[in-house]
Amino acid sequence: MAPAPHQVTAQPKPDKILQLDGISPESVEAHWGLYEAYVNKYNEVQQKLADADRGSANQIFSDYRGLREMLTFAIGGIKNHEIYFDNLGPGGGGPEGGLADQINASFGSTDAMITELKAAGMASRGWAWLAWDWDWQRLDVYLGDAQNTFPVWNASPVIALDVYEHSYIRDFSTARPKYIEAFVANLDWAAINARFGTIESLLGS
Ligand SMILES: [Fe+2]
Repeated sequence: MAPAPHQVTAQPKPDKILQLDGISPESVEAHWGLYEAYVNKYNEVQQKLADADRGSANQIFSDYRGLREMLTFAIGGIKNHEIYFDNLGPGGGGPEGGLADQINASFGSTDAMITELKAAGMASRGWAWLAWDWDWQRLDVYLGDAQNTFPVWNASPVIALDVYEHSYIRDFSTARPKYIEAFVANLDWAAINARFGTIESLLGS
């Protein structure tokens, strides 16, 4: 007997993301609702996949193709947003320890990394990331134009910058540069350092 379809549960909404400077609680609440919608759709797609007809799978159109494609879109919508919201908070700070060392090794300075991330945010149609490449043992900045355009294999995101218009239209109209400045100013570096700490703990193991 096949196992039951995999299902996920939305994370609890952290209070810290409602305390940002320049990015309003109303905007964050609406954005969180989109994250929850991705969770619901993931669960729906997984259930429908269980009964989908494998024999009629077709590259032009088939129920199976649509479900498999949208599964990755929903997963991206979940994981990208979980990193994004975890990255934000009123705590401030900066990169420390191993993260500071790796940022300096890959970019020369934190300012240079932030400049690169901002440029990627302006150049992307969806997401920009700072990520650790496990194969080449280095950080770099990547962009993806949709929820399911993951940039490279075997890399772990450290910072996720959402540049879909729903991220900023309420607070900044179409002024994406102002939103990106606010995003950078509201980075919760304690959370980011902790995220890289998990990566660092696996290095060399
Ligand atoms: Fe988003």
